[in-house]
Order: sequence, then structure tokens, then C-alpha cells
Amino acid sequence: MADGITIAFGPLGPVGQGDLQGDLVVFVGDDLVLSPAVIEAVGQGAADLVARAAASERFKGKSLSALVLPAPAGLTADRLVVVGLGSEKDRAKTDWPALGGFTASKVSGRTAHLALSWPGVTAANAAEVALGARLRHYSFDRYKTKKKPEGEEPRGTTLTVMVEDPAAVRAAAAATEAVAEGVLLARELVNEPPNVLYPEEFANRAEALTKLGVEVEVLGLEELTELGMGALLAVAKGSTRHPRVVLMRWNGAPDSTEPPIAFIGKGVCFDSGGISIKSAGGMEDMKGDMGGAACVVGTLHALAARKAKVNVVGAIGLVENMPDGNAYRPGDIVTSMSGQTIEVINTDAEGRLVLADVIWHVQGTYKPKIMVDLATLTGAIIVALGQDIAGLFSNDDALAAKLTAAGEATGETVWRMPLIPAYDKAIDSKFADMKNTGGRHGGAATAASFIKRYVNDVPWAHLDIAGVAMSSSSSEINRSWGAGWGVRLLDRLVRDNYES
Ligand code: BES
Ligand code: MN
Ligand code: ZN
Repeated sequence: MADGITIAFGPLGPVGQGDLQGDLVVFVGDDLVLSPAVIEAVGQGAADLVARAAASERFKGKSLSALVLPAPAGLTADRLVVVGLGSEKDRAKTDWPALGGFTASKVSGRTAHLALSWPGVTAANAAEVALGARLRHYSFDRYKTKKKPEGEEPRGTTLTVMVEDPAAVRAAAAATEAVAEGVLLARELVNEPPNVLYPEEFANRAEALTKLGVEVEVLGLEELTELGMGALLAVAKGSTRHPRVVLMRWNGAPDSTEPPIAFIGKGVCFDSGGISIKSAGGMEDMKGDMGGAACVVGTLHALAARKAKVNVVGAIGLVENMPDGNAYRPGDIVTSMSGQTIEVINTDAEGRLVLADVIWHVQGTYKPKIMVDLATLTGAIIVALGQDIAGLFSNDDALAAKLTAAGEATGETVWRMPLIPAYDKAIDSKFADMKNTGGRHGGAATAASFIKRYVNDVPWAHLDIAGVAMSSSSSEINRSWGAGWGVRLLDRLVRDNYES
């Protein structure tokens, strides 16, 4: 890609002697003092320059602020870019990926050297700066064919992070690079248009994980019928695109006798609502109704690429929800793989039908230690929590706590919501075992209660990611519509709790 970013790590040597090309980036705290190792590298002259320029520009070194000095006196660099770290006492709370993303935005389309050394900065922190830079730099422009006018053509970015111990940082960055790839893969899947990324094509993309050593099995119409996935198949009926269920296994701990961790994703490649059709405004956004499945594929990519010592199953249910002469209807009663019957009240409450069968299959086949499902399940969760955090429903306090902690660590925040018997009662049906909607109130919770009816005695968590998977607030590390939300969260959950 012409406007890609190349990130490398190098030693923090003397840079003031005429061989530094492009931009030089340094970090300063709110005292505007460079770290001793950086002063040694860039020279006292550059440090004095920072102090003078900061005073004249009233630059205070606040976190995520920058001061850009073109043609800095005494340096060969084109520009000296000073990025604030904020106050010393808040340093432990520094959001390193955000700092990396912010820094990348200041040197976009350029060649830059970042002098990164600070007392207390670890190799992991430096790797996270690189992670943030890579995530910030992503944009989805595959379908833009018009060239930019002269002088505005996209240019590649090269960022060399100069650190005291490049070998240690490279080792840490190998893992964060794997995670970055997983996030970008998930974003790509969410951003792709629905005429390109329908269930079969999505399954093909998931199959590419075999290159990383992931075992991938794709179930088509025949196998799904054989398995009795009547709920998932009902949703798929109105579409000419046939459904798929993809099962992915990463066996990074082959000697372990523990049951695997299971991640399950809703993959509605386009959700028109079906016969209960959605209104036209914003319907195009429903190409992103596979954000849960995208997260599962991205997470499996990350875990396999960094060779995580864990056994994980990823399972995604891929369908298209369309209105048609053959589509399922309100009033239909369908039989799920579990044997439980579902009265369809609204064909737009399709995600829970897909999840019900995939969860049931995963639970029976793999007997997982825990299950986490992710789904762009309800508009109601957006009403409740907005677009910055995801809703968490769980039958297990310990698992909920682990997810909450992973959310705090990564900034992919989750908020626990209640599951009480009243929500379950709301989906009792006059004619079948349950109905697929629970009325006007508590829509995210009644949807979660529906899924709970397919979970046996397994610690399980459901993440309603309708608000965060796409068109969420832009951040220092994301400017893309498809957020790739959850890959960093699940990677962290695994790393902190389940890796041997
Ligand atoms: N995919 C939608 C939920 C959604 C809405 C995701 C907005 C992302 C952004 C889901 O399938 C749906 O249509 N849910 C209905 C459920 C209702 C019919 C009970 C909803 O939330 O309105
Ligand atoms: Mn729907
Ligand atoms: Zn949907």
C-alpha cells in the first residue's frame, strides 16, 4: 500500500551528527525536560531548543499535545516534533497505544525517528507505542479509485523507534504486531461491503488462518441441516447467499489436558431485518452486523500469529438476513439444534437465533472451559450505554471480573448488565418454548436472556457490541468505521488468565 506505515526499532545512538533524515520526535513531560538518554542522543542544543520553543509557543507538555519545529537549528532533521507526556505523577497511567497513535498522526506520510527513552519505560510500553501507531494509520480505501491531485498523493510513513535495548523491544513488539494484525483484519472484515463479503466469502477469509496453523472447518448448508441448526437456517432462508458456520481451532498448548476456551461470533453479513424490514435510514450500516464474527477471526489471527500457549476454539455463524418469498416470517415456529422451539415475533431479532445454534454446537462438541460470545445484537444496548463501551452479561462473576479487568487494561471497556428472572419470563411464548423478542423494555437484557437459554452449566459471557463495533467515536488509535473492537480485549483476557 502506497500510504502504509513501516515501523522499525533501532538503537538510541547520537543523532545530531548529520545522519538523521526526516523528522526527529522526542517526548517531554510537563516540566519540558528531555530524558537524560535522549539528551545524550540528540544533544544539549536540541534540548535547549525545545525549552525555548515551548516557552515561546506556550507549549506545556500536556499529554497528547505536540509542538512542531521546522528546520530546527543545529539538527539535520527536517522537523523536530515534541510530544507531551503530561505530568510525572500520572505517568504510570499513560495510555501508550494512544501516545503512539497520536505520534503517528503527527508524522503521517513522512520518515521519522522517535527517540523513546524514559526512566521506567518498559519494552512492553515501547511495543505498545508501535501498536498504537500502526492502528492509527489504518484506513479502508480499497474502493477509492480516483487519484489524489498532485502534491496530495498518499505517501508512506516510516517510523523508526529508537530505544536503549532494541532487541528487548523487538521481542515485545512481535506479540503486539500480531495483535495489531488481528485488529486490522477485523476492521477490514467489518468495512467490506456486503456484496463482497457474504457468508461464503467471509468463510474463505477465515480459511486463510490455516497459514498460521489454525485448523479451520467450514460447514455449509448440508452439514448445518444435518446438525439440525433450524434457528440459524431460518434466518438464512430469505437469502440467495447460503449460510456457513466456521469452526477454528488454535492448539497452542498441545500438552494441556484442559478444555479449550471458546469464542463465538454473530456474523450477519447484512441485516435488512428480513420481512420485519428495517427503515431505509442507515440501513447500509448493517453490513457491519458481523462485527462479532470479525472479532473472533481477528482474535484467532492474533493468538496464532503470536503463538499463544493456549487452546482456543473460535466459531462464527454467517448468514444474510433478507426478505424474500422464501424468507422466514413473524409467526413461524422454528426448532433450534437444542430441540427448544422458538416463535418468531420479529425477523429483525435474528442474531440471537444464529447464536443459539452456534453456541449449542460449540458447547456440545468442545465442552469448553468458558464461552464468550460477541454480537452486534441490539439497538437497545446503544440506547443504554452509548458507543464507547460494550454491554457485558454473564452467568459467572469470576469471568465477568476477568473481562472487566481486560477491558480496563486495553481501553476496550465493558459494563456489566443484569440478568434477572424477569427478563427470562419476558420471552416466554404462548405457542412455543420461547419467542425471539421480549417487548419494548430492556431489549438488550431480554436478548441476553434468550441466549442464556442455550447455555448449560458453563461459565459464559455475552458481549453486546452493537455500539462499539462500528461507527463508534474515533480515537487516537482508530479512525476507521469498522473498529476491530474486541480483539485486544480477548487477547488480553487470554494472556492474563488462560495462557500456560
Ligand atoms: N443488528 C441489529 C442490532 C444493531 C442495531 C446493531 C444498530 C448495530 C447497530 C439486530 O439484529 C436488530 O435488528 N435488533 C433489533 C431487535 C428487536 C427487533 C427486538 C433492535 O435492536 O431493534
Ligand atoms: Mn436485526
Ligand atoms: Zn442483526
